[in-house]
Amino acid sequence: MRSPPGPRDSAAWSTWQWLRAPYPYLDGLSRDLGETFRMRLLSFDLVVFSNPEHVKEVFLDDGDTLEAGRFNTTLAPLLGDRSVLMADGRAHRRKRKLLLPPFHGERMQVYGRTMLDETDAAIDSMPHGEPCSFHEPMQDITLRVIVRTVFGFEGRPLEEMVERTKRLLERGMWPPLLLPFMQVDLGRLTPYGRFRRARTDYDELLYAEIRRRRRDGTRGPDVLSLLLDARDDDGEPMSDEELRDELVTLLVAGHETTATGLTWAMRWLLEAPELLGELRAELDAIGPDPAPEAIAKCELLDATVREALRLVPVIPIVGRVLAKDHRVGGWDLQKGTVVVCSIYLAHRRPEAFPDPMRFDPRRFLGKKLSAHEFFPFGGGVRRCIGMAFALYEMKMVLARVVARAELALADARPVGMVRRSITITPSDGLRVVLRRRRPFVRARLAS
Ligand code: HEM
Repeated sequence: MRSPPGPRDSAAWSTWQWLRAPYPYLDGLSRDLGETFRMRLLSFDLVVFSNPEHVKEVFLDDGDTLEAGRFNTTLAPLLGDRSVLMADGRAHRRKRKLLLPPFHGERMQVYGRTMLDETDAAIDSMPHGEPCSFHEPMQDITLRVIVRTVFGFEGRPLEEMVERTKRLLERGMWPPLLLPFMQVDLGRLTPYGRFRRARTDYDELLYAEIRRRRRDGTRGPDVLSLLLDARDDDGEPMSDEELRDELVTLLVAGHETTATGLTWAMRWLLEAPELLGELRAELDAIGPDPAPEAIAKCELLDATVREALRLVPVIPIVGRVLAKDHRVGGWDLQKGTVVVCSIYLAHRRPEAFPDPMRFDPRRFLGKKLSAHEFFPFGGGVRRCIGMAFALYEMKMVLARVVARAELALADARPVGMVRRSITITPSDGLRVVLRRRRPFVRARLAS
C-alpha cells in the first residue's frame, strides 16, 4: 500500500524535535517532504495533513471512523479518563450535549463583566517601569475568570481554588509527561509522583464542592450549577466522578490556551505601533467604560484576535485515530494510523493567507474564512467547546490592556516559541515594561 513520504529520523529523534520545537520541525518536514507526510513519534505513527480539502474530509467524519478520544489519551492522567476529550462515539455525543449549553454564544454577556474586572485588577498590579512577564498576568486573569465562571466562587474559596489549580498545573504541564512511559509513579521525588499527589489533593477539593452543592441545592449562574442539573437523553445526570473530570477539563482547557493566545496577540501588536494606535482609537471611540457587548462588536479588535490565533496557533495539531482502514486525502491508511490536521501549516498556506508570515489583522476584516482553512479551535464534531468563550475573553482582555496599559518589549532579543505541555507560548513569558497606566474610569449611571 502506498503511503505518504516520511523522514528517515528515528522515532526517538522525531519525538525530541516534536517536544522541543514543534513548529520549526513541522516547517522542515513540509519543506522536505511536501504537503502531506508521515511523522513517527514514540507513542504514535502520524500522517499530517494541511490541505483544506483533506482537512474538510477529516472534519466531516461523524467521529465513528476518526476517533479523537483515543488520540487525546496522553492527557488522561491530568484530566481523567471520563473527560469529554477522552470520549468517542456515542459517549462523546452525550457529553457534548451536556456540556455545550453553558458555553453557548448568548451566555457570554453574563461572563463579560467578570473578564473586564479581572483584567483591570491585573493591570493595576503590574509593576511600573520594570521588566516583567506578560504571560503571567494573562494566566492569572484567565484562571480567575474560569474559576469564577465555572464555580461561581468569590473571596476565600476563589483564592484557594486558584492556588490549588496553579499547583496542579505547575506539576502537570511538564512536556515529557505527555509520553505514556513517563506516566509512572515512582514516589514523591519523581515528576509524575509529585503530580499524582497534587492531583489527589485537588480532587478532594472538587469532590467536596460537588457533594456540598448536591446536598444543599445551592445554584447560581455558574457552569457547575448548570452541569449539576443537566440530564442526558435517558434522563440521567452526571456522576460525581464524571463531573470531576469535566470540571478539570474546563479549568485546564479553558485557561492556559486563552492566556497563550493573548500573549501572542500582544507580542505582535508591540511590534506594530501603527496598528496598536488604530486599535486604541477604535476602543477610545466606544468610551472609557464600554459594555462588554460594545467591545465584542469592535471589528479591528476581533480581526486582531483571529490573526494572532492564525499566525502562531496555540495548539499545533488536532489528531484522530483511525478505527478502521480508511482513505484520507487520496491515501489509503491503515486502522490505528493517527490522522493529524496541522493547524499551524494550514494557517501558513499562501493560497488562503497571502504573505502568510506577516501579522496583518486586516486580512480578516469583512471576510469569513472557511472552517478548513482557519481552525485554531479544531473542527467537526470535536470543535472546541469553549470557542465562543475564548474569543469573547480574548477581546475583553485585549481591549482593556490596549486601552489602559502602554507597554513595550523589554528585550531586543527576538521572541522565540516554547512548548508548555500541549500549548506553544512566547519565550520567557514575553518580557514587557509598563510605561504608562491609564486610570480606569467607571461610567456613572444616569440618575
Ligand atoms: C484560545 C483559546 C483556545 C484554543 C486555541 C482552543 C483550542 C482547542 C482545540 C484545538 C481543541 C481540539 C479540537 C479538535 O480536536 O478538533 C479544543 C478542544 C476543547 N476545548 Fe478548547 N481551546 C481554547 C479555549 C477553550 C476554553 C475557554 C474552553 C472551556 C471553557 C475549552 C474547552 C475545550 C474542550 C472541552 C474541548 C474538547 C472538545 C471535544 O473533544 O469534543 N477550550 N480546544
